[in-house]
Amino acid sequence: MAHPLQLRAEVLGITAAGAYQQLLLHAPGVAARVRPGHFAALAVGGEDSSMLLRRAFWIHRADPAAETVSLVVAERGRGTRELLRSRVGGTVDLVAPLGTAFPQPAGPMTALFVAGGYGSAPLFALAEQIAAQGGAVGFILGATTAERLFGVETARALTPDVLVTTDDGSAGIKGLATLPLAEAVKAIGAQAVYSCGPAAMLRAVTEVATAEGARSFCAVEERMACGVGVCMTCVLPVVGEDGVSRFVRSCVDGPCFDGTRVRWDDIGTIPADVDGAAAMGVH
Ligand SMILES: Cc1cc2nc3c(=O)[nH]c(=O)nc-3n(C[C@H](O)[C@H](O)[C@H](O)COP(=O)(O)OP(=O)(O)OC[C@H]3O[C@@H](n4cnc5c(N)ncnc54)[C@H](O)[C@@H]3O)c2cc1C
Ligand code: FES
Repeated sequence: MAHPLQLRAEVLGITAAGAYQQLLLHAPGVAARVRPGHFAALAVGGEDSSMLLRRAFWIHRADPAAETVSLVVAERGRGTRELLRSRVGGTVDLVAPLGTAFPQPAGPMTALFVAGGYGSAPLFALAEQIAAQGGAVGFILGATTAERLFGVETARALTPDVLVTTDDGSAGIKGLATLPLAEAVKAIGAQAVYSCGPAAMLRAVTEVATAEGARSFCAVEERMACGVGVCMTCVLPVVGEDGVSRFVRSCVDGPCFDGTRVRWDDIGTIPADVDGAAAMGVH
């Protein structure tokens, strides 16, 4: 797990990016600790707010020299609405970095990055790192509509191997991000696929990547109440290296997992063979 800091981060800017808003925060000490795949938990609504739970966001960029981090925020409900009403020059209460990062490649490798919507936000830093190490990268960026894609130009600046998919066909290939996946893995000879997006997408990515002989590393986005390992709202059934399935907390034991170890079909259930299920009354 990362060693997080809690601080009041100054809001340096809020800029529109398609359907999203990008928040630039001055967070001294945080950026140097961030690795691709980490997330931040932000208090929303101010000190008198009834919204007690922090909201989680992927860390998109971390700049240790400027001591800034940036987040890509989709307005969803009251918490994100209040967050996006933050004043430039005001502060937000932030805890970061949180969670596990993606495994760092030891040397040059070929990797494919697959994202749904703002799920691309935590992937670019790793892709740039792999490219800087002499590796090769490709992207499949998918979303429901063109305006919900994030980072297409950033990806194209890094590699010509960028595929775009939208559910409604408003940009790129019409269909899910997994539609061109098998061909893309073959085309670039990907050794690993890194993905971030809805669980159904991560499950499908893992199936295809594994069938094509590539590793699959997934950043999951389970609902998180505390973000720091205390409340157990974010648990997932995961097969350990010893072959035993256990519930693990996606906020501290994840959110980055080897996709082949996550029991995707059993998320939201208590499978009888998971270690400790009997104690929960499952027989
Ligand atoms: C590890 C992680 C990374 C995330 N990264 C991003 C990101 O980069 N950009 C972004 O826009 N959103 C991201 N999310 C989703 C974001 O946390 C939710 O959209 C946000 O919490 C919704 O809050 P709300 O009050 O606006 O909505 P409401 O729906 O009113 O939220 C009510 C409650 O549900 C929880 N909740 C609702 N939706 C989600 C969700 N999808 N995941 C987890 N908890 C949820 C909230 O925390 C809150 O406690 C991430 C979630 C996780 C777990
Ligand atoms: S969100 Fe509370 S334990 Fe993970």
